[in-house]
Amino acid sequence: MGHLVLVASPFQGHMTPMLQLGSVLHSKGFSITLAHTKLNSPDPSNHPEIEFLSLDDNFLAIDASANFTKFLEVLNDNCRLQLQDRLNRKIQEAKEDMTAIIHDNIMYSVEEVARNLNVPSIVLRSSSASYMPAFLALPKLHAQGQLPVQDYMREKIVPELYPLRYKDLPFNSTSTKVIKEMFAQSEIIRTPSAIIWNTMEFLENSALTKLREHYKVPIFAIGPLNETARYTSTSFLKEDTNCISWLDKQAPRSVIYVSLGSLATMEEHELAETAWGLANSNQPFLWVVRPGSVKGSEWIEFLPEGFVDEVRGRGLVLKWAPQKQVLAHSAVGGFWSHCGWNSTLESISQGVPMICRPFLGDQFVNCRYLSYVWRVGLELEYLERRVIMTVIRRLLVDEEGEEIRKRANNVKEKAKYCLCKGGSSFNSLNNLVEFILASYSNFT
Ligand code: UDX
Repeated sequence: MGHLVLVASPFQGHMTPMLQLGSVLHSKGFSITLAHTKLNSPDPSNHPEIEFLSLDDNFLAIDASANFTKFLEVLNDNCRLQLQDRLNRKIQEAKEDMTAIIHDNIMYSVEEVARNLNVPSIVLRSSSASYMPAFLALPKLHAQGQLPVQDYMREKIVPELYPLRYKDLPFNSTSTKVIKEMFAQSEIIRTPSAIIWNTMEFLENSALTKLREHYKVPIFAIGPLNETARYTSTSFLKEDTNCISWLDKQAPRSVIYVSLGSLATMEEHELAETAWGLANSNQPFLWVVRPGSVKGSEWIEFLPEGFVDEVRGRGLVLKWAPQKQVLAHSAVGGFWSHCGWNSTLESISQGVPMICRPFLGDQFVNCRYLSYVWRVGLELEYLERRVIMTVIRRLLVDEEGEEIRKRANNVKEKAKYCLCKGGSSFNSLNNLVEFILASYSNFT
């Protein structure tokens, strides 16, 4: 039917939906090549339907968390020429045309490669749609002197971005200089043929409408990709599957699952507050502490004294979970999450109500929508043991939690419906396939 080249970036939250997209488009008849960096490369044995193209990278020395814009600049510079060269050779050797290139939005230099190879380029966005209008509003808010957000403004609504409060803005405490650099980079993507969004029309209709007006190219909302793609691990870290037999022993909907995604970090005192909050909640818990995510430690050396004895038999701490399996388990009653978009979609897909505690970027916006608009989660405002204990019990024990669970189940049903024949994501995916084939014939 055609050959698609997907270009991924080396972040877990971006790689996962790209792999899922590859699997979905393969099921539609395309052959798929996925180009990726050596840093954080996927495990090809989990994706036999995809051919992998590994690009040499040369930027391990740059700390993405210290200077993200510099990291992206070097990443894009390193990959651009190499990708073009490798794809050129591939075309000549295979005597095969390339139907389109689909790239992660942060791999912005791929657009130039697609232009040079004379193929359409399509962007995959792996954040929520609701995040984008807020991101696009940042320069104006900066120019008005409203960013970084001052303490007295945090709870106030941003007039043009209702229902977001100033504290829900992405990068609300980032310096003006960094915001300017980020914008200069995001402006580089100017002429994609289309945008694929891992979301659903019913969930983010208003944001999608704004984005269609803004970008003026077709936007295909085909999510949640975690439900359409064939299930397989997409993790960089090894998933500890022992937790499933532990979950089997717990009562239905009794466990709070805690995971803060692939990037968030915490201080030692925050680890201690979390630990005691979980212990005092009296509920069983499954807690992912990613190695290195507690500043200054390798793993859980900083767990407070007495904690392990206190929670023996009631809690399990692990390095990385098979999250989709965990969320699908009947023992899980709630998900304390950083509100990364993949985690959000995975939770919504299983009807698991959430405790929302964002750390960075789009997560603040997602938290606000989860807790205030879709009302499938409770916002955890302070990382303090008593507040944590209370919020866990509100979700898992109190009647309030039952109501939230009902709404979460309702959203889950609607999400399922999107993927059925005639549903919005089902149709959007078919439209995307047609669009790819039509754009290719226009280009050639
Ligand atoms: C960040 C952003 O916050 C997100 O919104 C953006 O679009 C991508 O980058 P990240 O911290 O990676 O996200 O979180 P998330 O988007 O939730 O992705 C994490 C992925 O890792 C999820 O698919 C989740 O299932 C997986 N995961 C997490 C595991 O498989 N096991 C774990 O223990 C923890």
